[in-house]
Amino acid sequence: MDSDELKKMSAKAALEQIKDGMIIGMGSGSTVMHLINLIGQRIKNDEIDIMAVPTSYETAQLCISSGIRLTTLDEHPSLALAVDGADEVDPNLNLIKGGGAALTKEKIVGSAAKLLAILVDESKLVKTLGEIAPLPLEVLPFAKSTVLNQLKEFGIPQVRMSNRKLGPVVTDNGNFIIDIFDLRIRDYSKMEKQLNAIPGVIENGLFVNMADIVYVGSEKGVKTLTKL
Ligand code: A5P
Repeated sequence: MDSDELKKMSAKAALEQIKDGMIIGMGSGSTVMHLINLIGQRIKNDEIDIMAVPTSYETAQLCISSGIRLTTLDEHPSLALAVDGADEVDPNLNLIKGGGAALTKEKIVGSAAKLLAILVDESKLVKTLGEIAPLPLEVLPFAKSTVLNQLKEFGIPQVRMSNRKLGPVVTDNGNFIIDIFDLRIRDYSKMEKQLNAIPGVIENGLFVNMADIVYVGSEKGVKTLTKL
């Protein structure tokens, strides 16, 4: 099975969390897209009503076309459930997120939810964060160079460049993304605070102690990991 099929499997399993009338924090990325499609089918077939707080323009568009009504954190500042993908998951369910540059809204929405459910394929499971993915930070463009300087002690920082636009990636919030490769520090809680204390850093992609349940699509079926 390819990784997209495994992602779809985890999305199918996570569907068990979705109940009629729910207001869901909706993450971003290809795995969540599968879940949104599945919810869309349930809305059509079972006539359930679902609202979502989207974490990116892409998620908002797909929610609209799937029949999921959009709402905001201003209307619903606390949510029963948020669902999202991840770039890495460690054995304590700490995450790296932000491969799709939506980490800031994802962290806000995830922290507003009572239950944060993460959907991944098994390739995302790591022993130590930073093994396969860089750590992304959303950074105010004005502060790019000063932030890059201060990030050198954590690894190798690089401004993320666009593929189909000249220059850097610009986030939905109008900022840049700096990815830290070869992460050097292992105390994630401390690092999360240190990174956010750098002037110009809006948010970082370390999600420490936030995920409650992780659905892992694997060749052997879906594994469900929960906090110990
Ligand atoms: C978006 O910024 C990310 O946090 C995504 O949730 C993460 O990159 C996972 O994406 P996929 O589901 O596409 O692998």
